Amino acid sequence: MTLADVVKPAAAFDVEALVRSAVRAIPAYTREEAPAEPPRRVVRLDWNESPYGPSPKARAALVNFDGMHRYPDIDAAALREALGRYVGAPAGQVVPGAGLDDVLSTLALAIVEPGDRVVISEPTFGVYRSLFAIHGGEVVNVPLTPGFALDADGVLAAAAERAKLVIICNPNNPTGNLFDPGAVERIAAGVRCLVAIDEAYAEFAGVAHRPLMDRYPNVAVLRTMSKFAGLAGMRVGYGVFPPALMPYLNQVMPAFANVTAASTAAALASLDDLPYLEGIVGRIVAARDALASRLREVPGVEPLPSATNVLLVRLPLADAAPVVAELARRGIFVRQFGRPDLGIVDCLRVSVGTPQENQVFVDELTAVLAEGVGA
Ligand SMILES: Cc1ncc(COP(=O)(O)O)c(C=O)c1O
Repeated sequence: MTLADVVKPAAAFDVEALVRSAVRAIPAYTREEAPAEPPRRVVRLDWNESPYGPSPKARAALVNFDGMHRYPDIDAAALREALGRYVGAPAGQVVPGAGLDDVLSTLALAIVEPGDRVVISEPTFGVYRSLFAIHGGEVVNVPLTPGFALDADGVLAAAAERAKLVIICNPNNPTGNLFDPGAVERIAAGVRCLVAIDEAYAEFAGVAHRPLMDRYPNVAVLRTMSKFAGLAGMRVGYGVFPPALMPYLNQVMPAFANVTAASTAAALASLDDLPYLEGIVGRIVAARDALASRLREVPGVEPLPSATNVLLVRLPLADAAPVVAELARRGIFVRQFGRPDLGIVDCLRVSVGTPQENQVFVDELTAVLAEGVGA
């Protein structure tokens, strides 16, 4: 006889009843399947990472890191100080997290109640829709115009009622473009809720919205060390928030801001190596422009203007999915966004790699299209 024969459960374990309805309603996140046969070489251009990795000082900080047995700095004080200095804000207005995704979670925990409106403009970063819905928010999409401009009037109208948050991704992922500054400012000035500007790609665009916070008390700026600093695997993101919101964000922020001691060491060393990282950004921007020129030479292919380290590329096909799958089979990983309402089913998104990686991508894309895949 086993313990299970003696101790009978009171009733069936009902997982559906256990899980929050907002979570049950979220569609499952699907990842592209790995190719059945491992490709002979892998070129990863799907997650907008830096192809050059972290700065030498960050590498050295990790090699020499000897703090695994100690909790990180209390309240992430040194990290907040350094990030604040970098972005031009007092440390007391900085909320770090395990990546910008984690900062978005902290923000949602602090402000979103079931039924509160969160206004987004798709196509944009996919995490907004699922994260705020998980928190019970009513996610209202005011789509970008066909040319991927912000519909400022539409956002203002959508945010007039019950809105807690407008989130503007600028420059935008996956389209890569920067929005008209007048449209962004009109939204900041015209709503009563928080306007969070996600600047994950700010360093590539050379545009920063921190000064907008001096004019509008409802603006926050969100950033990450994942892209320009090559620290995606270390998970360090941050937000700069209005001072009056900080006590509440501090209250819900996870212990130690969820940033490990090792990640903190890597981030601090990166912020101490900015000239190196600026050089890397310059190389990526030059490689992006060269990649766009080369793509324009492929018949029917149209890379869209980008202020980031990614290019959205229109293909001469109704659906880019078969081409993306064939590229993956050949070891070249890029993304496609299959939701028809986003209006970019005919596009693929490619992160800018090293010049060599970009060349492999262009060559293989040219070959795949010439073979008639997806036609
Ligand atoms: C617009 C945008 N915001 C936030 C993130 C998340 O960044 P992190 O790696 O810091 O979580 C990404 C990552 O791709 C992004 O594209």
